[in-house]
Amino acid sequence: MLNIALPKGRLGERVYAMFEAAGYECPAIRENNRKLIFENREKGLRYFWVKPSDVSIYVERGAADMGVAGKDILLEYEPDVYELLDLGLGRCRMAVAAPRGFYDDGSRILRVATKFTNIASGYYGGIGRDIDIIRLNGSIEIAPILGLSDVIVDIVETGTTLRENDLEVMTEILPVSARLIANKAAFKFKDGRMEAIVEGLKEQLAH
Ligand code: PRP
Repeated sequence: MLNIALPKGRLGERVYAMFEAAGYECPAIRENNRKLIFENREKGLRYFWVKPSDVSIYVERGAADMGVAGKDILLEYEPDVYELLDLGLGRCRMAVAAPRGFYDDGSRILRVATKFTNIASGYYGGIGRDIDIIRLNGSIEIAPILGLSDVIVDIVETGTTLRENDLEVMTEILPVSARLIANKAAFKFKDGRMEAIVEGLKEQLAH
């Protein structure tokens, strides 16, 4: 069995549709139920839904042979996995945002609220700016409004969340999209099956 971890949610459904179109279908997955694991025994495939930020943990530790994770997660947690392909789905950007009109004059330590502490530290370290990181788990946009932080580092997709909370992008740090990843040992020993999947998905991308 080849074990494939998919990110639960809308992105995962689009990713599965790509696998299906490439000939790696598992019809049971489309039945509307609360199951999390689905098998196509004939094709030797087993898919499972996991929290998007957990996919790389399953893959790094070999509980999944392959999976799909956002570039943001890969840069934040730096799992020891192979990144095989940019699937071009789930495109968004990692950005610094602040209340409209905020200006960082550099006179004091900048307070940065984020889920992505590693990415934020790397970015500000790179430009030599001292910061105080405030680690939050969600609804990051609230932090500067309530004075918990000066700025945030977060994912921006449509920009609606920022706009509706009177924030704006100050700097774009990096583009983000979904990546196909693989467990390193499995990639070497699974007889070219994973390479075949990569090729099949590449063909889908070319369509
Ligand atoms: C993400 C991100 C932003 C929002 C950006 O939040 O943290 O809040 O999406 O999307 P937009 O630019 O299209 O408005 P998510 O829904 O993952 O929730 P959380 O970070 O608050 O947990």
